[in-house]
Amino acid sequence: MRTTIDERGDGRALPGRLIAVEGVDGSGKSTQIALLYKWLRGQGRKVFFSEWNSSELVRGATKRGKRGQLLTPTTFSLIHATDFADRYERQILPMLRAGFLVLCDRYAFTSFARDQARGCDFNWLTQIYGFAYKPDITFFFHVPVDAALVRLVKARSEPNWFEAGMDLELDPDPRESFMIFQSRITANYLRMVDEYGLVRVDAMRPIIWQQEFLRGYVTRFIDLEGFEVATEYITQDVYGLIPPEPPVPKKAKRR
Ligand SMILES: Nc1ncnc2c1ncn2[C@@H]1O[C@H](COP(=O)(O)OP(=O)(O)O)[C@@H](O)[C@H]1O
Ligand SMILES: [Mg+2]
Repeated sequence: MRTTIDERGDGRALPGRLIAVEGVDGSGKSTQIALLYKWLRGQGRKVFFSEWNSSELVRGATKRGKRGQLLTPTTFSLIHATDFADRYERQILPMLRAGFLVLCDRYAFTSFARDQARGCDFNWLTQIYGFAYKPDITFFFHVPVDAALVRLVKARSEPNWFEAGMDLELDPDPRESFMIFQSRITANYLRMVDEYGLVRVDAMRPIIWQQEFLRGYVTRFIDLEGFEVATEYITQDVYGLIPPEPPVPKKAKRR
């Protein structure tokens, strides 16, 4: 893996801070990051959210590839890497440069854990994502795979084709396949905990307990005072005049 993702060198220090959540499907990542985002927004912090697999640029190709089951482990991985690179260069990095707290629902570690479970080489994967900074904090939501499956099924029926790793032909039963595939992913995440300093969260705990843990951790390791939105209330314009009242919209004519 290239050094840019390993540690932020002194000369490259960015004013923003990067927080990511990782874990298998159904581990509770999106629930927790959404609550963290609202909490930070509520305090008036400069905060930006970015989600895995959401780039407009590659959406069409990803959809077509997935729907037609045209993707191999390599192209599956590369298409997600393109999605990430697009969001990284056009959103994440500019927002870090602009001094925002950037929250990411999944980051490169998703690919390291999941695409490796599809048979991609770990070193190849880390090189592909070598352009990306290592997040300041990465929470890893650790949950037994059977519990994640129960949550997913309860929330929205069966796991989908790729969540279950059906492309790998591990088992004809999607639930069985999910268990095998997501157990592999969990093992890969656990192997990365020390190397990348992932912060393991006991994702079996109640939502509120986990959220308090996240808030406490973020407060401790990031100086949030530096992320206050600077709002200037304009009471006078440059000539010292009181600005005019905003125009009142005209009532629509009745026909
Ligand atoms: N700590 C928790 N205990 C029980 N259910 C949870 C917990 N956290 C999340 N859930 C539920 O599990 C489901 C999946 O959560 P979600 O946040 O979407 O997971 P992910 O984003 O990791 O796939 C949702 O229905 C959510 O309400
Ligand atoms: Mg989610």
